[in-house]
Parts: sequence; C-alpha cells; structure tokens
Amino acid sequence: MSHGPATVDLMQSRGTPQGRPAVPDDVLSQLLEQTIVWGDAVEWLPGLPEGSVDLFFTSPPYADARSYSEIHPDHYVEWFMPFAAAMLDATAESGSFVLNIKNRVASAGPLRGQRHPYVYELVLSMQRMGWRWIETYIWSKPNAIPGRFGPRTKDSFEYVYHFAKGPKPYFDLDAVRVPYKAGHAEINRRRLDGNGRRNTAAGFGRDRRKTYEKGGADPGNVVEVCQTYNQHRGPAGQHTAVMPEGLATFFVKAACPPDGLVVDPFAGSGTTVVVGRRHQRRAAGIELHRDYVEVSRSRIAADEADDPQGQLSVAV
Ligand SMILES: C[S@@+](CC[C@H](N)C(=O)[O-])C[C@H]1O[C@@H](n2cnc3c(N)ncnc32)[C@H](O)[C@@H]1O
Repeated sequence: MSHGPATVDLMQSRGTPQGRPAVPDDVLSQLLEQTIVWGDAVEWLPGLPEGSVDLFFTSPPYADARSYSEIHPDHYVEWFMPFAAAMLDATAESGSFVLNIKNRVASAGPLRGQRHPYVYELVLSMQRMGWRWIETYIWSKPNAIPGRFGPRTKDSFEYVYHFAKGPKPYFDLDAVRVPYKAGHAEINRRRLDGNGRRNTAAGFGRDRRKTYEKGGADPGNVVEVCQTYNQHRGPAGQHTAVMPEGLATFFVKAACPPDGLVVDPFAGSGTTVVVGRRHQRRAAGIELHRDYVEVSRSRIAADEADDPQGQLSVAV
C-alpha cells in the first residue's frame, strides 16, 4: 500500500503477511463474484469500467481515528483524491457517491484543540474535481457515547455528503418517505379541504394537499439512526467502526436504482453490501484488511440464510 507518509499500513503494523491477490483484468466481474474482495481500493477502483457504478456508498477511515489506517488530517485530502478520481470515472452519468465522514479535533500542531477543517477541505476538493455537491446530510446518533471532550459536548452526529456525477442524479424520494406526524383524521381533513395553505398553524405555508398523497412525509436531511457498537467479530477481533444498517438503507434506497450496482470501496464488516443485496441491488465491496473480508463474507452469507423469502439471491 502506498498512500504516502501519512498512512500506516495495517498489514505491516499488525505483522500480517502481505500477499493480497493481484488486481485482475475483469475487476467488475470479480467484485460481483466474490462480493467482497481483499485489496486496496486505490488499486481496484481504476479497473472498474467507466460509468458502471450507480452508487458508491462508503465510510472511509476517518483522519487519525482507528488503528487500521492512521491518516493524518493534514494529509487526508491528498490521500483521498486518487480514490475520488477513480470513483468519478466509474460512476454512471446518473450515479452518485455518498460519503459518511466525521470531523475531528486536531491533537497537535497550530490547530491543536480546535476542530480540524479536513472534512470541509475534502468536500471542496471533490467539488473542484468535478463531483457535484448535491446535499449535506446530518446523521444524528441519539445514543452517541457520553464523555468529556474538552470544552464541547459529545459528538452526536456525523456528516453524510451526497455527490453526483451528472446534473440529473437518480434520487427516489418516495423510497425513503417517513410516517406522517398528522393522524389519519387530520390527513383526511386536509385532503377534503379546498385550501391546503390554510392548514398550517400560522395560517399560511406550503400547500400540503399534495404531499400527503405520496405515501409518507418528506424525510428531512437530518437522518436519525442509532449507532451500533463493536459487533461482527472476526479472527482479529470485532470491527470497531460498523455503520448501522439503517443509515446504509436510507441512502441505498434513495440513491441506487433497483437492480443497480452499489460499491463500497472501504467495506469494513460489509454493511453496505448486506443492505444492498437485501434491497435487490447488485452490491460489492473492497476491503484492505483480510480479517474483515472474512467477517463481511460470513455476515453476507448469514444474512442470506436468514432471508425467508430468498429474495437476496438476485443480487449477483
Ligand atoms: C470506517 S471502516 C468501514 C466500516 C463499514 N462501513 C462497516 O459498516 O463495517 C473503513 C474500512 O476501510 C478499510 N480500508 C482502509 N484503507 C483501505 C483501502 N485503501 N482499500 C480498501 N479498504 C481500506 C479499513 O480496513 C476499514 O475496515
């Protein structure tokens, strides 16, 4: 792995022997066949055919955060750009890249004790590269870990940035509608009301007669999902940064068409792939750490075995 001086190679740091398989010529078919491949995404992503992926959905290693990849925040953008460029080439014209990432507090240097701007620098660099910055979502975590974090509250949110390749990205809002807050009687009353604008408490507002015929209310861009902690055990222990399935579900349903292809270049324990397959998308991931590859493959197999309708077999 050669991400420059900012990165610690996990394989070397844990003494795991190298020996990852070479990147094949038919990257896409290998990804679909193996579901999770053992490899470095910076080597595999350029092998994907141009425009072949509907959605890249991922949570990369955050700056300085975990033992599996220590990327200094000052070098994060430089480290990430080759991944971003390869994904841009591989994304379909109507496709997207949805990136879950989190701020951190600088632990050294002139910014010590302050929020480090690497996330914002990354977003601006992605936009300059040609990714269209569609939306910033807040993933709100009602069960965030309590503790003292200096002169600030605990971290109870993360960012999820939606970038698109072209001007008309696939986005199915109907797939992620949420239950109405108003009860059945109130919804019915609004439906019969000749003047939808009158229905807000302030006496004016958006005409709501149309929105309640859509099967649910519009979700906001704050997506509340409980964090899951330290599950999915493997030979090297448990994966410490597992994303909740609910977060992946929201973005897979909204930003990847049914039967479309979703790829997670930093697959970890395989959450994106499990969720994608469960929702009848073709789904695959790349993971650098061999133990996590094994964890994610068994997790995918277990998820299939648990499916009573056998619907998951459509995914490959
Ligand atoms: C934040 S975790 C992803 C967790 C995942 N979303 C889940 O739910 O389990 C990031 C993962 O990226 C992997 N990784 C780091 N550098 C990589 C690279 N160059 N190529 C592929 N995977 C990499 C790490 O081993 C780690 O498992």
